[in-house]
Amino acid sequence: MTAKKLYIETVGCQMNLLDSELVVASLRRAGYELASSPKRADVILFNTCSVRQHAEDKIYSALGRLKHLKRRHPHKIIGVLGCMAQKDQRLIFQRAPYVDLVVGPGQLHRVPELIRQIEQGSGPKLEVSLDRTAGPQAQVAESFVSYDPLRDPQMRPTPYQAFVRIMIGCDKFCTYCIVPKVRGPEQSRPPEHILAEVRRLADEGCREVTLLGQTVNSYKYRQGERTVTLAELLERVHQVEGIDRIKFVTNFPLDMTQPLLEAVRALPKVSHYLHVPAQSGSDRILRRMKRGYTVAQYREMLHRIYDTVPEAAVTSDFIVGFCGESEEDFQQTVRLVEEGRFKNSYIFKYSPRPGTKAHQLYADDVPEQVKRRRNNELLAVQNRISLELNERFIGRQVEVLVEGPSKAAQKQAQHGEGPLQLCGRTLCDRIVVFEGNLRQVGQILPVRIYDATPHTLLGVVVTQHVGPEVYVLQ
Ligand code: SAH
Ligand code: SF4
Ligand code: F3S
Repeated sequence: MTAKKLYIETVGCQMNLLDSELVVASLRRAGYELASSPKRADVILFNTCSVRQHAEDKIYSALGRLKHLKRRHPHKIIGVLGCMAQKDQRLIFQRAPYVDLVVGPGQLHRVPELIRQIEQGSGPKLEVSLDRTAGPQAQVAESFVSYDPLRDPQMRPTPYQAFVRIMIGCDKFCTYCIVPKVRGPEQSRPPEHILAEVRRLADEGCREVTLLGQTVNSYKYRQGERTVTLAELLERVHQVEGIDRIKFVTNFPLDMTQPLLEAVRALPKVSHYLHVPAQSGSDRILRRMKRGYTVAQYREMLHRIYDTVPEAAVTSDFIVGFCGESEEDFQQTVRLVEEGRFKNSYIFKYSPRPGTKAHQLYADDVPEQVKRRRNNELLAVQNRISLELNERFIGRQVEVLVEGPSKAAQKQAQHGEGPLQLCGRTLCDRIVVFEGNLRQVGQILPVRIYDATPHTLLGVVVTQHVGPEVYVLQ
């Protein structure tokens, strides 16, 4: 009997990439093999994102393209998983009546069983968590189950790197953001579970773990009288043999405590890469966003970061064109980007999300072309700074975890034993491109940098034995 085939498409953040890895792993255990297109698949899954309208539009149009395929092959099972499943629920069946399965991010453990029921003729299935206002907090929290079954290294882009979830949900309720609604209440996983997972990953050959949470530095796990924080968790993960690098995303500015920064400085395996989104450089807009801090507080936090960890690579997110953002508000954001010396910033045009406070309270009153112009202007400022910071690496030697062929090499489909363009990352999360050999994938190599662009360092592997020289760890 030939194995049943599974096709999956994923949009959204690292949480979704991890969820897809875990869903695929559990379906592989149930006898599925991956297929390269919906045409070749028996089960077609979309793991979706609702953070901006564009992410939803992409999925609805992908679903639209499957209408005829489903008509010709009614036995194919089409499933919508993740944040848009939680947000739109039955609406998905209305917009695409040929969808068989809708499963929210808090119910992913049920996917193999639900597919089995559909195969046996149960008809369409909808499995979502409770709405945040549907009952007592504890009951709502219970309906969002952290999905962390056994890992499968074959399901990751590289077996040397893995995401590890340390918490689910978010309780910050920034007014523009749909995440607290679709990912549910903030819940931290027990440290023992996290450590067991990291140890298992290390045994399987994984060298780098990235700890994930929507506000990862808010991690808190109460054990009797004590509360385990991210700083302590980092210390414990640091002790796991075989793990050489530890990253964590995404940080919330107000929770960037001094003990956490000191742990980052003291623990050599912990990356000096800190993603701490500011969102805006205007107090008026931050207040409307309900971020809970002022620009002065964010600046103070930045100073503390650079004072404690002088080589820190800080990155940020910004939303341009939020409701009521004036030109002066925007110029204040430009100033924060200029001062912040961010390694890079992700810049988004505000997208109103039904179900959020901002959508309910404020008009989306910044015209699209103004949003676009502000986006481009801020990006140009950030790119100039990214280039300046990257150019400082020219002539220096960095340690690079080799991830695989670079994008250019993948396009040219270079194969065989010869030299090819590889890419990897420094400990501070900078992308480095250099010539190497496939055998070097998964190794940490010394690379000397000779050129830089805003997003990439170019280097050569240092091959000779360098005696007593000490590498600058980046
Ligand atoms: N938990 C993280 C990331 C959340 S989503 C954090 O708190 O920073 C990733 C980014 O998407 C956010 O940082 C924000 O910049 C952006 N974003 C969220 N909602 C948005 C919206 N409605 N429109 C545009 N960008 C949005
Ligand atoms: Fe969204 Fe704010 Fe939570 Fe981040 S902290 S996920 S932006 S509500
Ligand atoms: Fe999107 Fe959900 Fe992540 S809305 S950004 S996939 S938490």
